[in-house]
Amino acid sequence: MTTRLVTRIADVKREVARARARGDKIGFVPTMGALHSGHLSLMKCALKECRYVVVSIFVNPTQFGPKEDYRKYPRTLGEDRRLCSEAGVHLIFAPKVNEMYPSGFATYVTPEKFLAGRLCGESRPEHFRGVDTVVLKLFNIAMPDAAYFGQKDYQQSVIIRRMVCDLNLNVRIRVLPTVREKDGLAVSSRNRYLSSGESKQAVCLYLALQRARELAQKEGVTDAAKLKDAMRRVIAKYDLAKINYADIVHPQTLESVKTVSGEAVATLAVFVGGTRLIDNIVLSPRKEKGKRC
Ligand code: PAJ
Repeated sequence: MTTRLVTRIADVKREVARARARGDKIGFVPTMGALHSGHLSLMKCALKECRYVVVSIFVNPTQFGPKEDYRKYPRTLGEDRRLCSEAGVHLIFAPKVNEMYPSGFATYVTPEKFLAGRLCGESRPEHFRGVDTVVLKLFNIAMPDAAYFGQKDYQQSVIIRRMVCDLNLNVRIRVLPTVREKDGLAVSSRNRYLSSGESKQAVCLYLALQRARELAQKEGVTDAAKLKDAMRRVIAKYDLAKINYADIVHPQTLESVKTVSGEAVATLAVFVGGTRLIDNIVLSPRKEKGKRC
């Protein structure tokens, strides 16, 4: 099956209305393209749980800062379409910027600073406003029953869940575990920016998170300062890596915790060469958050 690709909002609405009229449950996977195994795991889960699956491919300009990689972000629509077809996705929505943001566009959804101004929001102050705005628009266009996100972007998943709850949206949010390379590096579209030397060092994020988890779970360390220190020490061994933040946070409020008592999330942003990578891991006796599909 070749997946149908549309670029117009009206076409998505029409196709989805048809599927819904047949009684199909609608699953939705929002992406910025350059699709990889992390995206595919979301699609596969959506396809298991829903009869009709829509994937959006849109490099959303409003979530990039002025000095960020909007222009050079990888755009691989032909290959993305092939992957979607192989997976069995029913519809791709790949709009142009002016379809999503026509001239005169003036309305944004802004998450509060206590969630969106910390962690990634500290160095990317407008980022989550761009994410919430585009995700709400995409939800209104695709009207899904369920939408699929990755734990890799942990803060994003918390902020989107919050928006869905706060704005009373009728969509079930599913957050699925991070897909990793064999060495543990979280798969990401931005890994394409890494040179081969940087690629080898990029594993430091996972190793640092693993170290924190090991200390918390096997050695019973509960002092967050010690866990952060341990993560910093692992990263310091890699000369191409520079920490942007390393924190231990509450899984829902994202506030830094002093002591790990219940569940907590160890979270990192690290520059490897010029590329900023993020990753996280749940610290608890239980497995990583998000049920496997
Ligand atoms: P993008 O980075 O393309 O990611 C799309 C979805 O794939 C997100 O939910 C992200 O968390 C998930 N994902 C990325 N890498 C993953 C991995 N290694 N394992 C599991 N899931 C992974 O996130 C965005 O796009 C955008 O902000 C978007 C939500 C589309 C709004 O523009």
